[in-house]
Amino acid sequence: LAADDFFKSNRPVALTFDDVSLATRYSQILPRDTDLATSLSDTLRLQIPIISSDMDTVTESRMAIAMALNGGMGLIHYNMTPKDQVREVARVKRHIHGFLQDPITIRPDMLIGDLLARIEQKTFSFSTFPVTDENGVLLGLVSGNVVKERYKTKKIADVMTPRADLITEHLNAVTKDPIKAADTFFNQHIGINKMLVVDDAGKLRGMVTSRDVESITNEAKSQRKPARDANFRLVVGAAIGPVRNPDGSLDREKIVSHVSALVAENVDVVAISTAHGHTAGVGDMVKLVRDAFPELTIIAGNVTSASGVEYLADCGANAIKVGQGPGSICTTRIVAGIGIPQLTALYTASKGAAAKGVRIIADGGITKSGDIVKALTLADSVILGGLLAGCREAPGEIMEINGKFYKQYRGMGTLAAMKAGSAARYGHDKNDTARKLTAEGIEALKEVSGSTDDVLGNLIGGIQSGMGYLGAKSLPELRANARYMRVSPAGQKEASPHDVIEVSTRKQ
Ligand code: XMP
Repeated sequence: LAADDFFKSNRPVALTFDDVSLATRYSQILPRDTDLATSLSDTLRLQIPIISSDMDTVTESRMAIAMALNGGMGLIHYNMTPKDQVREVARVKRHIHGFLQDPITIRPDMLIGDLLARIEQKTFSFSTFPVTDENGVLLGLVSGNVVKERYKTKKIADVMTPRADLITEHLNAVTKDPIKAADTFFNQHIGINKMLVVDDAGKLRGMVTSRDVESITNEAKSQRKPARDANFRLVVGAAIGPVRNPDGSLDREKIVSHVSALVAENVDVVAISTAHGHTAGVGDMVKLVRDAFPELTIIAGNVTSASGVEYLADCGANAIKVGQGPGSICTTRIVAGIGIPQLTALYTASKGAAAKGVRIIADGGITKSGDIVKALTLADSVILGGLLAGCREAPGEIMEINGKFYKQYRGMGTLAAMKAGSAARYGHDKNDTARKLTAEGIEALKEVSGSTDDVLGNLIGGIQSGMGYLGAKSLPELRANARYMRVSPAGQKEASPHDVIEVSTRKQ
């Protein structure tokens, strides 16, 4: 059945991912030809519809960089000081693949023979080196054609191209948009393939190679397209919570100064993350940020109803997070007895989104790529916590237990996380005594799952397969082609491998 007929005929039963299966459709689409691009607002576009959760065991700058390089986005959590969070955002925005801000340099009194030995030992894997003095002042450049056995007894100072003969670029000309600046530089200076960046004191402040610039400008043609802003910087979001005055009112000054600092570092979106978004407090917070930053993309949540989506949209949010209690570490449904199984919540929320022209994001409960396909028939993107928490880019140490490797994964509604700062998300104050703080999540371990690249690669492959089965080239087509049916307990059993002894690890 199409979404309206299906969900209405199943009322009042609410359903989640495993309750439902999608029917296949006639298809002319190969999975590899599908386009997974989506948007969170009219200005913020992602290449894949996957966002890493703003949890303190999932997203800091390392995860956000990996997410954006794969076409998605990370939301930096807010269990840290605003200053630290701004620095995390800056790390992502300044991570420009190609602009080496700390290139390896050599000293003028070194011998070519020493340099060759270090290259052989694989201390360096390239052959062109800027030469600097001990204070970092640029003295020259050694190019690959003199790093040869024949010159091994010569000093670097004698074979380098001296500073006076080098064409360099000033730091001020490149900070705003290094890749564009380098592209222009290489067009102007034919034959030069290293742009050395210096400051007023003549110190080397970075280097861009023409090959890296080309690989960035060629991304448009490659399979893996990073999510970049208009200035080639990786996209990133930051979560913020309601900061209140002692009388309970919102502390406008603190909130605006925090968001201003994030915006100054070119943050692409702020997420007002709470457990209950359909409240006056969250609405006021969204209005405050919208009022102060008319152009900024705002995510807000979480809600599970059409009226909740409409309310936050009216307050000024561009994308609304949907999900109360479906998360793998959530106990909100047990503790508070509330929440709607996720697929029905998404259907209901999608009605509000259509009415208001905003996006919705499926947040929580996703354990496999098939769940993402189902979520994307109703939502514009998904948020993952548990599926990414075992990746090496997630914060936290790897621990070994009985020969297996694990990472910590905890709910932001656990006592430990709330004490670290997230209490406001659950409508508590972190200075309350433990008696008053009621946990709505658990602390857990996730088996280490390798790199974010691998995990996302598998998930993307699964989404593309699902789109191929539904004859959908794009996410809007996936939505239009989705036909749902309810699965019986026997059908659920049939859907997983059965009656065999599994010898390989399944990839999700
Ligand atoms: P997954 O299933 O991807 O879910 O691990 C991640 C999402 O769960 C939400 N979250 C919580 N919900 N108590 C809750 O009820 C918690 O302590 C908690 N911590 C995170 C959040 O929406 C996240 O993206």
